[in-house]
Amino acid sequence: MDELDEMLLAAENDIQNTQTSDSLGAFYAEYFGKNGKIAEKMKIMKDLAVEKKKEFGMKMNSLKEKLQSLIHDREVAIAEAKLNKRVQSTPTLDLTIPSTEKRGSLHPITIIQNRVVEIFTSMGFTVEDGYEIETEYNNFEAVNVPKNHPARDMQDTFYLDNGQVLKTHTSAAQNRIMRKYGAPLKAIFPGRCFRNEELDASHENTFFQIEGMMIDKDVSISNLIYFMKEMLTRVFGKEINVRLRPGFFPFVEPGFELDISCPYCDGEGCRVCKHSGWIELCPCGMIHPRVLEMGRINPEEYRGFAFGLGFSRLAMMNYDITEIRLLNSGNIRALSQAGIK
Ligand code: PHE
Repeated sequence: MDELDEMLLAAENDIQNTQTSDSLGAFYAEYFGKNGKIAEKMKIMKDLAVEKKKEFGMKMNSLKEKLQSLIHDREVAIAEAKLNKRVQSTPTLDLTIPSTEKRGSLHPITIIQNRVVEIFTSMGFTVEDGYEIETEYNNFEAVNVPKNHPARDMQDTFYLDNGQVLKTHTSAAQNRIMRKYGAPLKAIFPGRCFRNEELDASHENTFFQIEGMMIDKDVSISNLIYFMKEMLTRVFGKEINVRLRPGFFPFVEPGFELDISCPYCDGEGCRVCKHSGWIELCPCGMIHPRVLEMGRINPEEYRGFAFGLGFSRLAMMNYDITEIRLLNSGNIRALSQAGIK
């Protein structure tokens, strides 16, 4: 019987000294294998007297259980030690260390959009979202462009099988916003627009606009001029003058093309403004009474202005990009040459 105690003691010692799961496996086989130490010891059983047999059997069982539990514990300890070692030897990743690679930046369109949005929100406008897939009604009818109106020609777009369209202008959100908030209302809504265009250096099938709308009891063209002048002066960081020329859009009456004094030559005349001192920037006008009506706003009581500013144009001017297709090209080298760091 003492032999068994001795065996247990020796085994315990061996288990504690085992350092790898492989050697622990070998140890297991040495004891519990078919011809292992335990099987060997069991051979004595058959020569023992009945009572002794029972006692011996019980002792063997408890020895086996003890060994198994020790082996299990050791296995867990070895696995933990291995993991700790790996964790300690892995260099920690510090995400705050500045990269040695060229750093990324926001897209020129996003930079301009953020700036314009910030300026308008500081003047009390809310920022609304528009859909990129719109109903034909919202894109055309609700802004006074009925079916077969020639103005649809200028805004040919992509029609989906379900009859909806990729919106051709941010004006597509006018009706939904009017019905949602009613008057008075001051909102801007930036968004991506699509047109079925012949592509060239200044025409792209996907481009960005920001629409603005202000509706109240005595809104006039002077309010429109004030907000545009203020916004553009802040965008360009210098005093910008604006002028209005008549322009036609079915959803405004009167309608205008807004020109800005050339920010590059301050109106002196240069390559960018084609020596005229002015740059055509943004269509706008007083919202047509029918459009207000369709937006459930009483045109007898309320008036408003709307403008649709092309971001793509603005970004090109700001960063001296001469080719509109670059903006959607994902060409990082070209975009960084545009002065964006
Ligand atoms: N939606 C017009 C366009 O994209 C621009 C516009 C907006 C004109 C608001 C007048 C008023 O061509």
